[in-house]
Amino acid sequence: MPELLRVARAVATNQLAWLAPRAYLRMTAQTGRGDSGDESPEDIADYFRRCVDDYLAFAGVPAQDAESVLENRTILEYGPGDFPGVALLLLAHGARKVYCVDRFPMIRLSPKNLDVWRAMLDGMGDNQRRRALALLRDPDLPAKGLRPGTIEYLVRPYGFSGLSGEADLVISRAVLEHVDDLPGTFADMLEALRPGGQAWHLVDLKSHGLHRTNPLDFLAWPAWLWKAMYSHKGVPNRWRLDTYRRILHQLPIDELRLEPTLRASAADVAAVRPQLAPGFRALSDDDLACLGMWVGFRKPGR
Ligand SMILES: C[S@@+](CC[C@H](N)C(=O)[O-])C[C@H]1O[C@@H](n2cnc3c(N)ncnc32)[C@H](O)[C@@H]1O
Repeated sequence: MPELLRVARAVATNQLAWLAPRAYLRMTAQTGRGDSGDESPEDIADYFRRCVDDYLAFAGVPAQDAESVLENRTILEYGPGDFPGVALLLLAHGARKVYCVDRFPMIRLSPKNLDVWRAMLDGMGDNQRRRALALLRDPDLPAKGLRPGTIEYLVRPYGFSGLSGEADLVISRAVLEHVDDLPGTFADMLEALRPGGQAWHLVDLKSHGLHRTNPLDFLAWPAWLWKAMYSHKGVPNRWRLDTYRRILHQLPIDELRLEPTLRASAADVAAVRPQLAPGFRALSDDDLACLGMWVGFRKPGR
């Protein structure tokens, strides 16, 4: 698509996403996972199991100890997407309650998502399955939804939870790169955590399909134009590792971990450097190369 047309279209659809967010979500059929629509329920159930395994691996918790770590915990998940699969698995592992907070009203109990739930139940051991079935209003009819008090879904401006001292654990996957106020989101999670609580976040710093020839060339758009094209659509905010480091170093937290999971090649970093928009020019090669990372910390106290 010619460049000018691409920009005009992106700016116009950004206005639509701003004025009619529900209609925009419906039109674009977003799940949050960026899937092509041909994933099977089993594939999606596998994805959610992998998410939980990845969180536990990041925290250094062996799979057989998952229940002792999660039992009776209150967990806050930012940005669950269109189905709270991770929350359901955490509850099946013995968590007491999961809050899911989002900026957009994404969750849908569609027939496909109910099939995902059935596929998740099929993959569970006896204890997990018993807990999972107890979450339902009617174990024979998952479409009737969950009993109140198990998962609480909060749709809030900026995606802030507004919780205070309640969460033992705060998690997210592929969410922080979408938030519009990153310092505000970190302040919200710190307030939501009880003293001693932990945060585990997997951040995807890739372009989400918005680059052309180099995986970093989406950093060439000036900030004002990026905002005009994408600010209401939940596409990446483009903050890089240096911004996370700067925000987190100012917060009263312990045991900070910033661990890159994926890097652009040195050749791509060198090739994109002359094209970078002003806000990215001071980045070191190392920080510029980072295309994904884990962020972890602990709130000081007990
Ligand atoms: C790429 S999806 C990831 C969904 C899910 N975590 C997964 O791994 O499948 C991003 C999610 O973040 C949500 N989101 C976007 N901005 C947010 C914000 N400011 N606060 C909380 N969630 C937000 C989106 O609505 C969506 O649910």
